[in-house]
Amino acid sequence: MLNKINDAKEKFLQNIEKVDSAKLLEELRIKFLSRNGIVSMLFEEFKSVPSQEKRAIGQGLNALRQELQAKYEALKTRIESKGKASAPEIDLTLPGRAPAQGTAHLITQTMNEIISIFKKIGFSVITGPEIESDRNNFGALNFPEDHPARDMQDTFFINRDFLLRTHTSPVQVRIMESQEPPVRAIMPGRVYRNEAINSRSYCMFHQIEGLFVDENVTFAELKGTLVHFAKEFYGNNVKYKFRPSYFPFTEPSAEMDITCFICGGKGCRVCKHSGWLEILGCGMVDPNVFTSVGYDPEEITGYAFGMGIERIAMLKHDIKDIRLLFENDVRFLKQF
Ligand code: PHE
Repeated sequence: MLNKINDAKEKFLQNIEKVDSAKLLEELRIKFLSRNGIVSMLFEEFKSVPSQEKRAIGQGLNALRQELQAKYEALKTRIESKGKASAPEIDLTLPGRAPAQGTAHLITQTMNEIISIFKKIGFSVITGPEIESDRNNFGALNFPEDHPARDMQDTFFINRDFLLRTHTSPVQVRIMESQEPPVRAIMPGRVYRNEAINSRSYCMFHQIEGLFVDENVTFAELKGTLVHFAKEFYGNNVKYKFRPSYFPFTEPSAEMDITCFICGGKGCRVCKHSGWLEILGCGMVDPNVFTSVGYDPEEITGYAFGMGIERIAMLKHDIKDIRLLFENDVRFLKQF
């Protein structure tokens, strides 16, 4: 019996040498330590050992079982931890993957940039509805009844009295009718014109309107404000000029040109070889407008200006087709 115990131990030691996986380890356990394994069989045999030998053999058997069990457990922990180490390694020092993030649309970015320049010099931001009355869009702004801009070809009429606003100037009317001077505000928003769609014009676009009304507001202040804007937006070296123009709601009226920032004024495709780019319309608020909103034109003066956002963004980023701004192709939008 004692020999058998020694044999079992020898065999176990030989077997365990070759165990290097959880699968082989389990086979080893079944062979030696399970209920029908070699050790249990020896305990079975032990029952028929003569009583005078029982003590020595019993001790031997218990020692055998303890030793095999201990060796088995030790190997088991080794194999399990090795299994963990060989799993794909995680490098906790690697920087994380940034989540894909959207950006504001180029038009929004451009508007925000312009708005922040005017906010810093005391303009508040006010918006108005895109569906306007004929009176706010035209009548109160001193458009004569037969003005060509009222024509169905330019304006989307909803019915005889309402339309999609063709510019942001009706917000001027709304502000002046709802508050007393002084007024100093910019008015960003969407406008609509019934124009043939092509690379240069679209049926919808964005404008930012500006209005300053108080006592003794001068054209010099208008110029000063717009020159400040142009320098902030296009850079300190920008050259500019004001050209006389006409709008029904301003008198006198002007358009502001800046030196073409693509060619620096030498003349190129973008500025149509003139060296200049028109960036906005402006002027002193016409006394007739003051009268329609209930201000006294004898006491009050003011200036107004308006610019198209698409045009500014297209010039700045050399975008050749306005439709790209409304197709929402992510490959285009991602570039800004
Ligand atoms: N509303 C004019 C336009 O749509 C722009 C403008 C605004 C001109 C204010 C003068 C003063 O073109």
